[in-house]
Amino acid sequence: MLAGKTVLLIIGGGIAAYKSLDLIRRLKERGARVRVVMTEAAQKFVTPLAAGALSHEPVFTELFDRAAEQDIGHIRLAREADLVIVAPATADRMARMVAGIADDLAGAVLLAARVPVLVAPAMNPAMWTHPATARNVAVLTGDGVAFVGPKAGAMAERGEEGIGRMAEPTEIAAAAEALLAAGSALAGRHVLVTSGPTHEPIDPVRYIANRSSGKQGHAIAAAAAAAGARVTLVCGPVNLPDPAGVAVRRVETAREMLAAVEAALPADAAIFAAAVADWRVASQAGQKLKKDGNAIPPLMLTENPDILAGIARRGAGRPRLVIGFAAETQNVIEHATAKLARKGCDWIVANDVSQESGIAGGVMGGDRNEVHLVSAAGVEHWPAASKAEVGHRLIARIAEALAPQEN
Ligand code: CTP
Repeated sequence: MLAGKTVLLIIGGGIAAYKSLDLIRRLKERGARVRVVMTEAAQKFVTPLAAGALSHEPVFTELFDRAAEQDIGHIRLAREADLVIVAPATADRMARMVAGIADDLAGAVLLAARVPVLVAPAMNPAMWTHPATARNVAVLTGDGVAFVGPKAGAMAERGEEGIGRMAEPTEIAAAAEALLAAGSALAGRHVLVTSGPTHEPIDPVRYIANRSSGKQGHAIAAAAAAAGARVTLVCGPVNLPDPAGVAVRRVETAREMLAAVEAALPADAAIFAAAVADWRVASQAGQKLKKDGNAIPPLMLTENPDILAGIARRGAGRPRLVIGFAAETQNVIEHATAKLARKGCDWIVANDVSQESGIAGGVMGGDRNEVHLVSAAGVEHWPAASKAEVGHRLIARIAEALAPQEN
């Protein structure tokens, strides 16, 4: 998939830059042409001479280099690439990307690029877990930037461990391959995603809700858009920015979500990541319920439509791929397998949302997820990763499933 493609590799300033030299070789092994941009800080760790010798191309370092600008220029560097990889991506580089700062060649190229961007962060765990970095990752994910890593392990700082190591070159090359493959399979396809909770009103000021943040569903929509699909995201009330390049339909209740999903069809793939309330209040009070003496108002519930099951059981107009989510607190695989049959969908993405899941801070509302992909073909375990990574991996699998079969 990388054969004949041009990869623009931006090497940032971090000790992991030495691994980026190996990444050049791994990308070239897969048939890619590799053009390298190095930041000033990167050159403190590895030399342009080494990167040039491995890529067999001149290495670009200056925004205002007369010879390079006449010859190629930052706009052409961005335009002539099929994919941009930033490895290692420092906390500072990600913050600059969020702000659109273009005061060096790497920044200018990233701002001009209209192709998929894959970021491989590398930094100290304290910097990775800082709220500022977490915010920046969320914004970049929403902008459709793909992430690979960082991984857990030993740091360059003696005795330090945690999440912050750059992904290995082979992993980055594989992620690059998957990103481009998804791009060619999903171009022109319509992907429908539901995300977030629903709010079911009790009276004009109160409602029934759940703890879904919408982060996983939004990350899936962002990944699908980054891969070139036309994406509709139907989402309940969430505190998240709209992912770039995605048509967003905001709803409140399960019934509104169903109507928006039906209006968005037809779709090639539909991913139901929303935590839809199973029940709503049978008769919503028109006025605010008051504390009348001692009488506590009873809440009579009635069932909401099951959006996933309804779409999965459609004859005509059923998306080719219908994917449900299962949030379970026990017997995850057993329940997910039963849910696959009960809902009539093709795949279930199952996660353990119990506090014992091992994911610090919990899955619901958190930034990481560990899932099992359950289908007729069996059960696949995906190790804990950021919700952005899970989104890209799922989109890569959907692209594979939708790709025309080669005979
Ligand atoms: N779902 C939906 N509409 C509903 C309820 C759920 O589309 N009214 C979808 C969710 O988006 C998710 C999957 O169904 O993809 C989750 O199912 P879940 O709510 O867990 O199913 P239940 O049948 O309620 O199973 P359980 O009672 O075991 O939680």
